[in-house]
Amino acid sequence: MSSSSFGINRSGFYSCSPTLSKRISCSSSSLESRSSRYISKGCKLIGCGSAIPSHEFSNDDLAKIVDTSDEWISARTGIRSRRILTGKENLTTLAVEAARKALEMAEVNADDVDLILFCSSSPDQMFGGAPEVQKELGCKRNPPAFDIRAACSGFLLGLVTASSYIRGGSFTNVLVIGADNVSRYIDWTDKKTCVLFGDAAGAVLVQACDSEEDGLFGFDLHTDGFGSRHVYADVKHTKRNIALDLNGTALGFSPTCPSISFIHMNGQEVYRFAVSVVPKSIKASLAKARLKLSDIDWLLLHQANMRIIDRVATKLEFPMDRVISNLANYGNTSAASIPLALDEAIRSGKVKEGETIATAGFGGGLTWGSAIVRWC
Ligand code: ACO
Repeated sequence: MSSSSFGINRSGFYSCSPTLSKRISCSSSSLESRSSRYISKGCKLIGCGSAIPSHEFSNDDLAKIVDTSDEWISARTGIRSRRILTGKENLTTLAVEAARKALEMAEVNADDVDLILFCSSSPDQMFGGAPEVQKELGCKRNPPAFDIRAACSGFLLGLVTASSYIRGGSFTNVLVIGADNVSRYIDWTDKKTCVLFGDAAGAVLVQACDSEEDGLFGFDLHTDGFGSRHVYADVKHTKRNIALDLNGTALGFSPTCPSISFIHMNGQEVYRFAVSVVPKSIKASLAKARLKLSDIDWLLLHQANMRIIDRVATKLEFPMDRVISNLANYGNTSAASIPLALDEAIRSGKVKEGETIATAGFGGGLTWGSAIVRWC
């Protein structure tokens, strides 16, 4: 593609020429992640919402069950408290509440939603949480609704997927929900993991717009399956004793009971991975957006650990007073963490209309990625 295919649009950002064919990747190197900008339509974030469980569980509460302390957890992670789903509410309840708030802010009716992306590694239903959310929202036109499972990077994958559907042509309103009930996979006797996680849901409404108003300027996504050994929860199959009753010989295999193991994590490896890949990914997204870090108003990283957030901001030489964080109150809420923090920052008036955010997710998989977005 020649350089004449690009121009500065009204927002001051580069985009591909609208005269070119519908789907063009502007990625120039085969080593870059497959991305990046589709040209026919723009898309923008016009609504957000979030929801948290009512049950609060503080560091002091944790110190009553494992050998830890508020001092250790705060100093090593920045976390003071977290919210836990106890059974009175479930993940669907939270996701629906977050989605309704996003629709309300966007002034979009549930019947006008064209696609629901439910980003979660811990849905209430194995076949996916999205259909139940769609049912509860009462979307009468039966829009497609499906899950995206990419651990703590799930919301970012959802955002880029939403933009791709919109730029592809026939989708106008896409609801992206990040929601996780990680606490159900926590070993509450393992002090190395149980202090880190909490449950929550967050949502955004992404809407089609003219290409001049486009609010997703660049993104960068990756997965390294070799790194999955550093954070995982295995699906297990325990042999069922009823094999003989079922005439095991005739069956030809042993029936099993499925279950999922607790989360296992090599914290130091995950830390090293995050502080190494996230700055590079943000720089890659900025390059694709033809932007500099000084053009960015806010840095919003997956809320895993304050030390990771500090280190990434330092590496990027980004001012800490422009870094969004609510980790102290909620811990690591996996796919919910970015939309939850975004929603709080927008509703509190911290992030204002027209401001640009560099956001990045990282986690199990290993997965990671970033995007440069504008609020409204
Ligand atoms: N309370 C008190 N002591 C503790 C605790 C605790 N909760 N956890 C560990 N310790 C102890 C250890 O036993 C060890 O003691 P020792 O030196 O006597 O053996 C000491 O503290 C140091 O342990 P480390 O594991 O080296 O602690 P570290 O400084 O690495 O902090 C932590 C651990 C907070 C988990 C850190 O490694 C981290 O945040 N890593 C990143 C994790 C992350 O962000 N995951 C996100 C992705 S998860 C996903 O996607 C699902």
